[in-house]
Amino acid sequence: MSVATQKTRLELPPLKLGGLTVDTPVILAPMAGITNKAFRRLCREYGGGLYVTEMVTSRALVERSPESMRIIEHDDDEAIRSVQLYGVDPVTVGAAIRILVDEDRADHIDLNFGCPVPKVTRKGGGSALPWKLDLFTAIVQTAVREASKGGIPLTIKMRKGIDEDHLTFREAGKIARDAGVAAVTLHGRTASQFYSGKADWNAIAELREALPDVPVLGNGDIWSAEDAIAMVEQTGVDGVVIGRGCQGRPWLFADLQAAFEGSDERHRPGLQEVADSVYRHAELLVETFGNEMIALRDIRKHMAWYFKGYVVGGDLRAKLATVPSLEVLRELLAQLDPTAPYPGADAEGPRGRAGTPKKTALPEGWLDGRELNPAQKAIIAAAELDVSGG
Ligand SMILES: Cc1cc2nc3c(=O)[nH]c(=O)nc-3n(C[C@H](O)[C@H](O)[C@H](O)COP(=O)(O)O)c2cc1C
Repeated sequence: MSVATQKTRLELPPLKLGGLTVDTPVILAPMAGITNKAFRRLCREYGGGLYVTEMVTSRALVERSPESMRIIEHDDDEAIRSVQLYGVDPVTVGAAIRILVDEDRADHIDLNFGCPVPKVTRKGGGSALPWKLDLFTAIVQTAVREASKGGIPLTIKMRKGIDEDHLTFREAGKIARDAGVAAVTLHGRTASQFYSGKADWNAIAELREALPDVPVLGNGDIWSAEDAIAMVEQTGVDGVVIGRGCQGRPWLFADLQAAFEGSDERHRPGLQEVADSVYRHAELLVETFGNEMIALRDIRKHMAWYFKGYVVGGDLRAKLATVPSLEVLRELLAQLDPTAPYPGADAEGPRGRAGTPKKTALPEGWLDGRELNPAQKAIIAAAELDVSGG
């Protein structure tokens, strides 16, 4: 996309989520395996916004698994401690929220109804769940009630539906609004699209119009500040939610803040600055995980994103993608050309998960009715075991 033909600034008011104010109406999308404390800090250092944790399952949180306790940890200076929960059972979701409220562990809670992964939808969880209106309503109502006891705004994040013939976003949006959510985020894809094709911003515009009394946030395919402005202009959303676009580009938050404050200043890092960010990211991961080996294993997946479009030899790329320690990382980064400038368009555009469209795996007879039958109740009870990712 040519930046020259796109609008580069648009003053957008702060986002109100219940009693909270997010000055820059930009949200780092929850991403399992990515938006841990280290990555959120890195993004936050560049610009304002709301930075959501990786998703935690309500059952794991209730059981206080060490991994779930790690996920919900925040830095002391995270102004709004935001947590994303995933759950399929109102009672467990309610119990998880009570932990967050009673122990003062969050200022904002988001519920995930967007996961398209077969092992989740096959049991009726994730983006298959809003099809069952009784269960969806019960979960959202319970969540809002429990969160409100601590004065915490509760939001939901969802996809358009299961597939184009089984859309759920219109009804789900209204149910959530009636239950008292503080905002609704729509990722403009169906479950069966996974991450393929293009996000449907028209559906986001439609939801914005259908819910005049609650903030609607738009998600899907924002790769630059210009894209964010285009989404706001095309859909009228109150804020933008950005996932893959900031993988390997935490400085996107600087561009987004600039754009929404009416400036066309943009961050265009040369190779040395990228290398410095990679190293800082790795150091923060070591701090977060308290274990250099785990941290270095984690940073490897970010390498291709960080260096997309930059001149880095194939051999060096391969070594970076298997880096074993901070010491080796330092040595490898020192081999990069520190004078290499920002490469322009090659460093921009789509990155991360894509996938191909595929029929969504569902429990038998799932689409036959909008309410759970007894057999489905039993299946969905198992939908929260062994889940990660969205
Ligand atoms: C690696 C990865 C992990 C994700 N994990 C979650 C998650 O835990 N919770 C969630 O609601 N969505 C999750 N998502 C979906 C994103 O939040 C977002 O909705 C999606 O990537 C579309 O936005 P984008 O086009 O800006 O990337 C994940 C996406 C990716 C790529």
